[in-house]
Amino acid sequence: MSLILSPSLLSADFGRLNEEITLLNESEADWIHVDVMDGVFVPNISFGFPVMKTLKEKSFKPLDVHLMIVDPDRYITRFREAGADILNVHYEACSHLHRTIQSIRKEGMKAAVTLNPHTPVSMLEEIVKEVDMVLLMSVNPGFGGQRFIENTYDKVSRLKEMIERKNANCLIEIDGGVDLTNASRLREAGADALVAGNSVFSASDPKSMIQQLKNS
Ligand code: DX5
Ligand code: ZN
Repeated sequence: MSLILSPSLLSADFGRLNEEITLLNESEADWIHVDVMDGVFVPNISFGFPVMKTLKEKSFKPLDVHLMIVDPDRYITRFREAGADILNVHYEACSHLHRTIQSIRKEGMKAAVTLNPHTPVSMLEEIVKEVDMVLLMSVNPGFGGQRFIENTYDKVSRLKEMIERKNANCLIEIDGGVDLTNASRLREAGADALVAGNSVFSASDPKSMIQQLKNS
């Protein structure tokens, strides 16, 4: 099975949003990664429901929504209404993660938990069987175009081992600094899905880059 590729819209040209969405529709991208930032959980503000509405109207691909916001429970229904198919919430932003995961599933979305680079995978021991995916941050969240953190390879292996040991049915996705230099090693370590922003949208041929990353 080839890797699942989820290009991050954060690196797209928003002046040409329609063309960028068409490009992704015509590409081999599996999902579209949507980075929502609130300026509190992370030191940046991206976009919200109006942009997602346009995206949902024009895109044929499932929306893989990454919430970098405090108290995500307040907005679960709104994100389902805005068209999220997968909802990623940060471990560090949820006091009652089990309840949050249940609420996401109740709304009919896939539930994913995201870990910041400093958060050990062992924190997921009691929840990994309840989630559809774990998103490991390979940069500190908040910005596109940052450098990949090398410790991520070991982290992916540890998470893969936990998923197998627990017989959990859960994908591993990696987000941040992903490009052709690390994609195949991430796959070997156990990654199922990769987010790619800068490496896709700054490529001279984004569609070809998506294909190359998928076949890593
Ligand atoms: C960072 C975001 C990422 C980002 C990835 O906070 O979660 O999804 O857009 O961009 P690149 O691939 O450029 O690191
Ligand atoms: Zn992201």
